[in-house]
Amino acid sequence: MGGLHIENISMRFDLPNGSHVQALQDVSIDLRKGEIMSILGPSGCGKTTLLNIVAGFLAPTSGQIRMNGHVVTGPAAERGMVFQKGALFEWMNVRENVDFGPRMKGMPKAERDEISNRLLETVGLRDFKEKAVYELSGGMQQRVALARCLANDPDVILMDEPLGALDALTREKMQGLVLKLWKETGKTVILITHSVEEALLLGERLLVMAPRPGRIHKEYRLPFAERGVDNDLREVKKSEGFAETREEILSMIWEMEEEIMGRSETAA
Ligand SMILES: Nc1ncnc2c1ncn2[C@@H]1O[C@H](COP(=O)(O)OP(=O)(O)OP(=O)(O)O)[C@@H](O)[C@H]1O
Ligand SMILES: [Mg+2]
Repeated sequence: MGGLHIENISMRFDLPNGSHVQALQDVSIDLRKGEIMSILGPSGCGKTTLLNIVAGFLAPTSGQIRMNGHVVTGPAAERGMVFQKGALFEWMNVRENVDFGPRMKGMPKAERDEISNRLLETVGLRDFKEKAVYELSGGMQQRVALARCLANDPDVILMDEPLGALDALTREKMQGLVLKLWKETGKTVILITHSVEEALLLGERLLVMAPRPGRIHKEYRLPFAERGVDNDLREVKKSEGFAETREEILSMIWEMEEEIMGRSETAA
């Protein structure tokens, strides 16, 4: 069975002062292969915790992640992660960053070169192979991060605010690139974002999470990611239903933020 199954995940962090945080409570999500899903929610609602559990970096207090017929017990190449920023190896050039995974697997050079050439072409960095990381802009670095993730040929790509540090124009271009890569590669994608517009554009499915305890508050099925594959994203934003859904979700998140304000960080 393909797909990714997040089954009744709960995560409780016990703090040194004796209190605890219920970061996630009974979260279940089934993703079919090739689905792109975005996750929105106020700060502290458990988005990163959930992604870290799916990646295998964190073991949940209860529940399990199932993928390709097995239970996830740790990180593996089948689940690739793209972080917000700063996750490239500064001491390696662009090509070495991209072919890091294949090199670790012991893949022969000719094959590795084919992969890094193809992926750097895809993300528009063909002429930057030998550049150092510090010579690249933030947007270029995130493209390298995407290429590096794809070089491991994961089934699922996990992205935690991957475009959060970029300026508006670069961000929009990158959103188009994420859609293109999703369509071309057929990978399953989970993308966390603080931007409602981005979540609408990059989620066939959009989950809104609520905090304390972190849980799924509402789920949408949306046509915009599919529309964005062949259309200008500005046009998609003007298309039917976009503005209404954006307003609905914004109000929802505002209400949650207001409710959180004034409440203490932890439960007794
Ligand atoms: N290692 C940890 N130890 C204790 N508490 C933690 C730990 N990691 C996360 N938390 C708590 O769990 C809750 C969820 O955190 P998480 O980082 O998953 O939120 P988030 O939704 O990603 O927030 P943001 O939007 O700000 O990135 C928060 O209250 C946080 O303080
Ligand atoms: Mg986070």
